Amino acid sequence: MAILKVARLGHPVLRQQALAVSVEEIRSPDIQRLIDDMVETMREYNGAGLAAPQVHVLKQICVVEVNGNPRYPEAPSIPLTILVNPVVTALTEEMEEGWEGCLSVPDMRGMVPRFTSVRLEAYDREGQRIEGELKEFFARVVQHETDHLHGMVYLDRMRDFATLTHLAEWNRYWLGNTEQDD
Ligand code: NI
Repeated sequence: MAILKVARLGHPVLRQQALAVSVEEIRSPDIQRLIDDMVETMREYNGAGLAAPQVHVLKQICVVEVNGNPRYPEAPSIPLTILVNPVVTALTEEMEEGWEGCLSVPDMRGMVPRFTSVRLEAYDREGQRIEGELKEFFARVVQHETDHLHGMVYLDRMRDFATLTHLAEWNRYWLGNTEQDD
């Protein structure tokens, strides 16, 4: 396994459309190794998730996990989840603002509106179909990661930049100071 280099905002790879992965390709050693490396990289940098374009690979793969994450101390846990070719569909018109950060936008946080309930369809790392409904924080993280597969970052979803803040200032002025932190 290896810790991969994470592309930062400004790298063109973050603004490109990632390609779907076939079931045969999912099961290939190259993709299995990529998934292992993405999980290791996400954990190394305390990401809540990581999408393949963030490690310079334009394939529709993302990994998600939150478990006692020091970057998101107040966040609920999310089990390790591997998503290939994820399709996310809103199940409500209701959106909720919540704080997000991104390993490709280091040292920043901002309030981002996301759908509170979404339908998820994807493949797992064995090439098996995943279908389900996600709510709240899990739904937020998956919306954030799937955006990366379509060349978008969370800044594109912000209603305005009044809450965009560096992490040190977030800890000083915002932590525990807002109703929701999910
Ligand atoms: Ni991100």
